[in-house]
Amino acid sequence: MNVLVIGSGGREHAICWKLKQSAKVGKLYCSPGNGGTAKDAENVELKVSDHKEVIDFCKDKQVDLVVVGPEAPLAVGIADDLEKAGIKVFGPSYSASRMESSKIFAKELMGRYNIPTAAFRIFDNIEAAEEYIREVGAPIVVKAYGLAAGKGVVIAETVEEAVDAAKSMLVDKQFGSAGSKIIVEEFLTGEEASILVVTDGEKIIPMVTSQDHKRIFDGDKGANTGGMGAYSPAPVIDEKLFDEIMKTIIEPTMEGLKNEGIIYKGVLYAGIMVTLEGPKVLEYNVRFGDPETQVIIPRMKSDLAELFMAVAKGDISDQQVEWDEKEYVCVVLAAGGYPGVYDKGKTISGIEQAEKEKAMVFHAGTKEKGTKIVTSGGRVINVVGKGNGIEEAVINTYRAVEKINFEGMQYRSDIARKAIDRAKN
Ligand code: AMP
Ligand code: GLY
Repeated sequence: MNVLVIGSGGREHAICWKLKQSAKVGKLYCSPGNGGTAKDAENVELKVSDHKEVIDFCKDKQVDLVVVGPEAPLAVGIADDLEKAGIKVFGPSYSASRMESSKIFAKELMGRYNIPTAAFRIFDNIEAAEEYIREVGAPIVVKAYGLAAGKGVVIAETVEEAVDAAKSMLVDKQFGSAGSKIIVEEFLTGEEASILVVTDGEKIIPMVTSQDHKRIFDGDKGANTGGMGAYSPAPVIDEKLFDEIMKTIIEPTMEGLKNEGIIYKGVLYAGIMVTLEGPKVLEYNVRFGDPETQVIIPRMKSDLAELFMAVAKGDISDQQVEWDEKEYVCVVLAAGGYPGVYDKGKTISGIEQAEKEKAMVFHAGTKEKGTKIVTSGGRVINVVGKGNGIEEAVINTYRAVEKINFEGMQYRSDIARKAIDRAKN
């Protein structure tokens, strides 16, 4: 089969890297792709928001399957349009994608099906929001209801900070219509983990567990980012807790969607907070996580193309997914200044040396410039290593990290530190 992957991050490079290994895959395209996907696939410049352009490309190149990496194209119904044109697609429909594109839809669904999540209220009016924030007190969480490129969540330490966040969303329209309604929710404490499952709408195949590192600096300090590193498995989720998450969160979510007439085909990602009262949903994503994918996909021993195609056809009942038992770690190398303003066009050195250290290097914000690879985004490179045990995986990963350099490069030096501490205790 010929496959088109949509996206340009580390997630899409990891997906392309794995699809390329499948004997079932003929031609592999990535749009727009990055400096890494250029090696594993053919990068193509498509205007992804123009669904007709994507459909015409697929027909012209006889693409059998489209894999949609990010949420934005799904939120505007690319899966529906591709299906209507007779092209198979891995990624949920417009209505199913509301699980991510509308936090109100997701919260209300959780409410209807008793899925544990933070207590919340929805507001479109600043006076009412402010009154509620003052009544509940801080810490408190303010979220834009729509897609805000990962920037729409404010964890407010003080009431004033929360009121300011609500104002900038509702009054100053910081996120445009995505912030025309806000969710003010209870601040949850605990350890976070990412639970991803692949589903055809009926049957569920769980992926291995993973954990992300959202903050920019060591010790979980500084601003929230798209994710500065990850590891898999997540030791906070033991077998018993995993079963509880499946029974109290994932299965009721799928049942709820079905009950509302929504067939969910693709990957469903639940961001979970393990609280003293049990696991609760922080958010749903309708796509693979980034950088979680960079540690999940390399652990997969089975054929990813076959799995994606089975989901796209709506029947995964004959799919078996097997996993490598080793531990995997991903360290994200980011541009100086990220997640704020940062420079682009810096030459990256040492990628081949890092790969010689038996690490995998998945590109994110990179592009080819002549014979060089240069930076072109905030999160630039993902270095993924493995080991027998988390400590060995961390050592192997950082050994490879040290080979890579570009001006301004920053990364966290404590990825998986919590997992190592947990393994020791
Ligand atoms: P979200 O995009 O909703 O996952 O939020 C981004 C990040 O903000 C999460 O990964 C958490 O680290 C944090 N967060 C979101 N909601 C809450 C909450 N109710 N309590 C504590 N932290 C939260
Ligand atoms: N790593 C978090 C996300 O993909 O949303």
